[in-house]
Amino acid sequence: MLEVEFCNIKMKNPTILAAGIMGSTAASLNWVARSGAGAVVTKSFGMEANPGYPNPTTVEVTGGFINAIGLSNPGVESFKGELEKLDRTIPAVASIYGAEPREFKDIAVQIEGMTDMIELNVSCPHAAGGCGSSVGQDPQITSQVIKAVKKVTNLPVIVKLTPNVTDIVEIAEAGRNAGCDGLTLINTVGPGMRIDLETAQPILHNKFGGLSGPAIKPIALRCVYEVYESVDVPIMGVGGIMDYKDAIEFLFAGSSCVQIGTAVYYKGFDVFRDICVGIERYMNRKGIESISEMVGKAHK
Ligand SMILES: Cc1cc2nc3c(=O)[nH]c(=O)nc-3n(C[C@H](O)[C@H](O)[C@H](O)COP(=O)(O)O)c2cc1C
Repeated sequence: MLEVEFCNIKMKNPTILAAGIMGSTAASLNWVARSGAGAVVTKSFGMEANPGYPNPTTVEVTGGFINAIGLSNPGVESFKGELEKLDRTIPAVASIYGAEPREFKDIAVQIEGMTDMIELNVSCPHAAGGCGSSVGQDPQITSQVIKAVKKVTNLPVIVKLTPNVTDIVEIAEAGRNAGCDGLTLINTVGPGMRIDLETAQPILHNKFGGLSGPAIKPIALRCVYEVYESVDVPIMGVGGIMDYKDAIEFLFAGSSCVQIGTAVYYKGFDVFRDICVGIERYMNRKGIESISEMVGKAHK
């Protein structure tokens, strides 16, 4: 009843661990798989090791967190060691980033066959070393990245977009025209900041970071709704999903499945199972037989 198919990849349920949340090692990704998620996305990794920003990298705000981790990761060569150790009991998605199309392509070549899908992170708003969001704010560069990766991989390629643009539909259309198989909407919102009352200084080392958690849910939902309305590509919705009610709203807006990020910090890995139980009860109550019946219902 909860099964979904996304880009021809079957999942036992529509809940997926979002990129960057406990996804740096095979051990934690395997743990999430055992906790009941339908699929997992890795922490984003790039060509070379990246130390990211010094602490503090995360600060709590009303309605969520602001983070400026700066895409810290050990680089593709080292990350392959983790991918090799994945149990593969559920689909795994590799989240990759680069400064230019060639870098995305070179990483995709190196990890071919090690995961079930590739998510292109063209949208991190606070990447150290100049990589990240500028790629995904430009429809032409986004399209070049997708074309470069599609040439070298047989895996489905999904593109994670930033909401921090004037018109997200324009970027989504560029993605579809370039041949991406799916879209992930959205990365963090902002940037935003907090200031320490004792020192009168910004709290984050990078001063600014991306906002996640319940505060961004209405924006994420609107992005999914708008893109579903005009771009015919399957969507993974993400942004502030805390419980089954949030997840169902995203399905109605047009997501085929949902990614869960910040909620894992608040609720632990049980959140995947809890959301699934809630969705299933709702479906029983409403006489709904499949997740696909719910997808896009807010548009009908
Ligand atoms: C601590 C932290 C680290 C993140 N790292 C990544 C990352 O490496 N790659 C990426 O594409 N998104 C990253 N994100 C963004 C999330 O995957 C997600 O898009 C965003 O947080 C909104 O969802 P949420 O409100 O459920 O957390 C990160 C978010 C947080 C809070």
